[in-house]
Amino acid sequence: MIGGKSRRILITGGNAGIGLALAKRFAGRHQLLLSGRKPHEDVAELIPAGSAYIVADQSQPEASASALVEGIREQGWDGLDNAVLNAGIGLAPKSGIDTTEAIRQTLDVNLAAAIAQARALYPFLEKSRGTLTLVGSVAHKGSATIPAYAASKAGLHGLARALRSEWGGQIAVQIIHPGPTKTDMHDKAGYDPGRMRALFLSVDDVAKMMASAIAGRRSPVTTSWVRFLNGGSFTGRGL
Ligand SMILES: NC(=O)c1ccc[n+]([C@@H]2O[C@H](COP(=O)([O-])OP(=O)(O)OC[C@H]3O[C@@H](n4cnc5c(N)ncnc54)[C@H](OP(=O)(O)O)[C@@H]3O)[C@@H](O)[C@H]2O)c1
Repeated sequence: MIGGKSRRILITGGNAGIGLALAKRFAGRHQLLLSGRKPHEDVAELIPAGSAYIVADQSQPEASASALVEGIREQGWDGLDNAVLNAGIGLAPKSGIDTTEAIRQTLDVNLAAAIAQARALYPFLEKSRGTLTLVGSVAHKGSATIPAYAASKAGLHGLARALRSEWGGQIAVQIIHPGPTKTDMHDKAGYDPGRMRALFLSVDDVAKMMASAIAGRRSPVTTSWVRFLNGGSFTGRGL
């Protein structure tokens, strides 16, 4: 809560992993609208009680943006205090080279959808002088095993820089780059991190750092092991 006020928060990919952990942190104090690809009945037991949920499949970027706007209107919200564009996929190529289909899907879900959604959410964020948070990855600097994923996250980094300057002053724009985190994403991607998984941060620790970074509105922010250990991702603020 900022200034003791309940906030209207949208989290894409809010039914699993990092997005769900963030939603659980905010639940009870803020009004939540979560989105995902799965139907509501599949996630109703998972998401925090009282949060609204909509299906917004990001493999159709423009349609996903329209679905978010519809969801906001259904809530009766005329503004939005926080939009956390978190939904994403990774697809680990077997031979190190992505298939054409995997490239298309990764860029649509991770990047094109975020661009379309940011544009569609602008009027709501502007009205509330809100914060747009993009969820990138430490892989945005390049990763030998997941090239299309790394490219999509580098694209989000560029998008955050562009919107920060374009929207300057009206809406805070930030990108947060998580390091490896214990969610189901790697299994879904077909990637086995093996013993390295033991070094991944817990999803709750990552969500805690992210919540602090969202309140701090700085950009870019990395939520890695090193940042966790030295406290570098904690801003001393909370939502
Ligand atoms: N875990 C990590 O190590 C790590 C590291 C760096 C960055 N990240 C980033 O953090 C974000 C969250 O990842 P996570 O680890 O929490 O992954 P996750 O547990 O696999 O959750 C992914 C979320 O994205 C949603 N999603 C996937 N495809 C979608 C689509 N086509 N349309 C709409 N929603 C879709 C999923 O919804 P459904 O369940 O309904 O499909 C789910 O809510 C991603 O952007 C990821 O790239 C993760």
